[in-house]
Amino acid sequence: MQTSLFIGFLCIAAAIASDPVPVVIWHGMGDSCCNPESMGYIKKLIEDNVPGVYVLSLMIGDSTSADVEHGFFMNVNTQVEEVCETLRKDARLASGYNAVGFSQGGQFLRAVAQRCPDPPMRNLISVGGQHQGIFGFPRCPAADWICEAVRRMLDWGAYVSFVQSSIVQAEYWHDPLNEKEYREKSVFLADINNELVYKDAYKQNLLKLNNFLLVMFTQDGMVVPRESEWFGFYQENNDKVLVAMENTTLYTEDRIGLRTLNQSGRLHFLSVDGDHLQISEATFISEIINKFLK
Ligand SMILES: *[C@@H]1O[C@H](CO)[C@@H](O)[C@H](O)[C@H]1NC(C)=O
Ligand SMILES: *[C@@H]1O[C@H](CO)[C@@H](O)[C@H](O)[C@H]1NC(C)=O
Repeated sequence: MQTSLFIGFLCIAAAIASDPVPVVIWHGMGDSCCNPESMGYIKKLIEDNVPGVYVLSLMIGDSTSADVEHGFFMNVNTQVEEVCETLRKDARLASGYNAVGFSQGGQFLRAVAQRCPDPPMRNLISVGGQHQGIFGFPRCPAADWICEAVRRMLDWGAYVSFVQSSIVQAEYWHDPLNEKEYREKSVFLADINNELVYKDAYKQNLLKLNNFLLVMFTQDGMVVPRESEWFGFYQENNDKVLVAMENTTLYTEDRIGLRTLNQSGRLHFLSVDGDHLQISEATFISEIINKFLK
């Protein structure tokens, strides 16, 4: 009796110990947590390939339609705070989780890692995220009034405080011809990139990651410049010449810990030959799930 109880206990302990690390995913602009063709599909793909894994696809707001809207209109800082709160309250994440961000969800999850070290993020995967921001907004489909409205606001003044506090894409708008204004007025990107007020915690917290994978799409027709997906950006006062990550001051000054991460073999780069977020299932499984989520 005692022996079988003991063995039973061991089995439960082993099952708990071998539970896969949970995964948190954050969708991109125009998308929602639960679209069966996008995040719903990714959630299932991870579940199918990592037996027993708990996958949380983040919803910002109380409904999928609110979630889509918040991808355009809401202060990202508030969104990140809400997500931090959600993660803290979720007992299943208490001993850590891996994070996969799609497009703008990539830089938003990086902000979560930098601002909210508890519960601990283990691996961070950014799929087409814009870590040095964007300088250009894609053409809008004819009938998409939300996209058109955002585009007009950005044209009108991305650094106007009212636009900064309400338009998501303005919060990672990076004008290389006005670096000073960007550093002073960007409420989100300049902050997480430690451009104005240096916050050492942002660096120390990012350094807690085991791995940081950056996925860039070589034919990306949506993100301008696409090199932002690998922390590259335009040279200051120039909107044509590109500077690779290793030659940006963000990297050379190690302002957020990228150089340290690289030197310790924890910064990884994946280039995918395709348009924005066009990654095949086979590549997603072999390069992301098998290497970072198992
Ligand atoms: C970084 O700058 C150096 C010196 O200008 C240059 O030789 C090197 O090719 C640059 N690196 C990349 C990846 O562009
Ligand atoms: C990144 O780390 C690798 C491996 O340690 C090293 O070979 C490479 O030179 C580093 N890159 C930069 C830009 O520091």
